[in-house]
Amino acid sequence: MSEEKTDNIPTPQHVLITADQVAEKVDELGKQISQDYSKEAPLLVGVLKGAFVFMSDLSRSIDLPIEFDFMAVSSYGHSTTSSGVVRIVKDLDLDLAGRHVLLVEDIVDSGLTLNFLRKNLLARNPASLEICALLVREDFQFEEDTIKYTGFQVPADWLVGYGLDVAERYRNLPDIWVAGSES
Ligand code: PRP
Repeated sequence: MSEEKTDNIPTPQHVLITADQVAEKVDELGKQISQDYSKEAPLLVGVLKGAFVFMSDLSRSIDLPIEFDFMAVSSYGHSTTSSGVVRIVKDLDLDLAGRHVLLVEDIVDSGLTLNFLRKNLLARNPASLEICALLVREDFQFEEDTIKYTGFQVPADWLVGYGLDVAERYRNLPDIWVAGSES
């Protein structure tokens, strides 16, 4: 990849998960979701911006008449699950009452965003709420069944590509890379 060195922003160093591995996993998740929701198609809720690439591919691997909505949140203080503030920047357009909602995230890191969104969305009285996260940190502690659909467990490196960014860059890389500084 051609790279202009104009600042100290970390750059992609090596591939952690290839585009082919992602595609295979997304296909598996889509098939599982299609089976699980065969009686009632879910409403997919994507968390902007990071989830937009995953949501796009995942949705096309689901063989059901799904619907879509998006939220954007901003968070401060990612170090623990119990601290930090999450704020809604863009709310949903649709009413969740009585809907089977599938929340789609690119990555669960500290869990702060997920905890906030679960509570917030459950308060809107959906018929059900499940989580689908492509990436979950290996050391993330969560109660069993909190995340029903997981793609990959990943180490605590800075990851970019397939929707994930550093300073808004690299979201369009097809593979998932570990980012860092040139040594
Ligand atoms: C990322 C990711 C999750 C959140 C997870 O979003 O998309 O929403 O962080 O982190 P947490 O588990 O520690 O809360 P980010 O805030 O980087 O915004 P972006 O999706 O626009 O890149």
